[in-house]
Amino acid sequence: MSAAPSAPDAPAEDTSAPGRAQPFTPPAFLFGGDWSPEQWDRETWREDVALMQRAKVNTVSLGIFSWACLEPAEGVYETGWLDEVLELLTAAGIGFFLATPTASPPPWFTLAHPEAMPVREDGVRLTHGSRDTYAISAPAYREASRRMARMLAERYGEHPGLRGWHLHNEYGTLDHGPAAADSFRLWLQRRYGSLEALNTAWSTAFWSQRYGDWEEITPPRATQYLHNPAQLIDFRRYSSDEMLAALVEQREEIRAAGSTAPMTTNFMLPTWNHLEQWSWADQLDVVSLDHYLDTTGPDAEAHVAYGSDLARSWSGGPWVLMEQNAWGIALGDRSVLKSPERMIRHSLGYIARGSQSSLFFQWRASRGGAEQWHSALVPHAGGSSRRFAAICELGDVLERIAPAVAPPAEGPLVEAEVGILWHADGWWALETPHLPHDGIRYAEELRATHRSFWRAGIPVDFVRPGADAARYRMLVVPCQYPLSDAQVRWLTEYAEAGGHLVITYLTGISDPSLQVAGGGYPGRLRQLLGVRVEELHPLLAGEEVTLDDGSVVAEWTELVEATDAQVLASYTHGELRGRPAITLAERGAGRAVYLSARLRQDSRDAFLLAQARRCGIGPTLPGAAEQGLEVVRRRGDGADHVFLLHHGAEALTVRGSGTELISGQDGADGVRIDPGGVAVLAVEPGAPLALVGR
Ligand code: GAL
Repeated sequence: MSAAPSAPDAPAEDTSAPGRAQPFTPPAFLFGGDWSPEQWDRETWREDVALMQRAKVNTVSLGIFSWACLEPAEGVYETGWLDEVLELLTAAGIGFFLATPTASPPPWFTLAHPEAMPVREDGVRLTHGSRDTYAISAPAYREASRRMARMLAERYGEHPGLRGWHLHNEYGTLDHGPAAADSFRLWLQRRYGSLEALNTAWSTAFWSQRYGDWEEITPPRATQYLHNPAQLIDFRRYSSDEMLAALVEQREEIRAAGSTAPMTTNFMLPTWNHLEQWSWADQLDVVSLDHYLDTTGPDAEAHVAYGSDLARSWSGGPWVLMEQNAWGIALGDRSVLKSPERMIRHSLGYIARGSQSSLFFQWRASRGGAEQWHSALVPHAGGSSRRFAAICELGDVLERIAPAVAPPAEGPLVEAEVGILWHADGWWALETPHLPHDGIRYAEELRATHRSFWRAGIPVDFVRPGADAARYRMLVVPCQYPLSDAQVRWLTEYAEAGGHLVITYLTGISDPSLQVAGGGYPGRLRQLLGVRVEELHPLLAGEEVTLDDGSVVAEWTELVEATDAQVLASYTHGELRGRPAITLAERGAGRAVYLSARLRQDSRDAFLLAQARRCGIGPTLPGAAEQGLEVVRRRGDGADHVFLLHHGAEALTVRGSGTELISGQDGADGVRIDPGGVAVLAVEPGAPLALVGR
């Protein structure tokens, strides 16, 4: 059974802010990580708990991959070991997230229910031997998952140490097997109502794909050449809805057993995008995120901010960092070490932007198994190590900044005047093959846009299509290729009501079924933008061209006619010489800017900063970002907590009347932050700050 699909013309239309009933407010920042006692003997359990106390760990995540230990044979539950573990934790005052272990069905399950294993696109049915081997829509899997959730909830649902339910782990296995085919068809029937409507939406007249019976439709399995793009994107939408339905079932079992603990599941960035996060967030009490960095350079700090701003936006307030890597940054074929200082700075970076936790994968480095070389809070070297000493230092810092955990009684946790539209449809659409340029990736575009604001020290939120965007003076829409009628109306109303809209190439090209709107691009937005694009001109790999405002462009250009807009910048080369590249249309009380060229990062930075300035939007602390000082004002209960994260090379001093929580220094005297250092200044709400030099 999958969740009700969104109507074809209105994917993820928002009518309400995603705000939770209660913002997730633990008594202190949650500190710890995934703990797998099932991998260790009892002596190590006791040593672990003693080390946790030493480091001031207050939370572990349990049970994530414990199915085989909790249910060693069908219907036979063994929970004695978990009872013992919880007793040890409780005696030490350590709380826990309890996972439903459904991400990793054990071997007996595979053998008993082969039809519940996922089938790849190429028809290969997977077997056990790794993890995440489940066919999400297989009745046997769903049934076993519900039973497991119920059993755990009945046994532990009211445990005083339970901080929340960690449902499953990183939902994301796509299945192309018979069970998926059945539920995909049902989803399509609900979405389209009739085969005729589906045939029209999917353009099945092309390549003789017309369907005469629902049974003829399959998931997009391996085929001779290109798939139908409408089928591909609908399958992604269906898979997200189907996994969400499985989560909701588990949640309902747990609630029915009487447990009132908060529910979450861990989303995963930067690479995975199997979920439509806004609709998922609606079903959770708090959003949690696993965040793994993919670069060692300064962009790692921008990436921390990107993941955090996404999670806070999806959650509509505080969120939980469920996993990060303590020491490693995965780079292709190796894991490069992160310094202790950087580990602490990153941990505070997540908290600055709304995380209520600093949780890691994982507590103790495994001796065996596929992730034995993944870093951990307790390394293979054990508790007597430089690494573990740094973990203890982080525990101290988190304890000192505990006052910052309480969210404000009203208003956002981080105040942003810039919104960036995010929707999984844009990602999925750009993943369909055979576009004019298959190398333009949604996630890269969104990250590049976010990076520009991060570099300028300007706070941003991500925004759900259809949300109330009135509080954003500027709304940026990068590469949202499909748009529904309702979304076009929403954007138009935003501009007319006085908003400053910035829309990039590859937005509004198609309807939700990926049918191109004719008459010139971007067909869905021509009127709003006052432009008509006759031709798309992707550039050659490595080719760069310029605009007459000095911007440098790579990868993408367009032949634009400004039909009802003023030209802000024009192309200076070849066929496009003198043609508009960036335009601005006055609309009602606001404006709609169109960017037809893919600006190189430095030019994108300059362009977006100029747009922000035009709206009167400035950085949190002028002059700081340029010197590598990231400044985030996290609003709290009766105070603002100003996080100062120094990624630059020269010591800096910031003054603000209040107390620096880590050192206890008086902020009025100026707080000096050394390169690589962090400080958290508690000031009166809205109190001014000054950068007073080195
Ligand atoms: C996460 C996962 C963890 C662990 C970690 C390693 O995606 O939830 O179980 O595998 O990655 O980086």
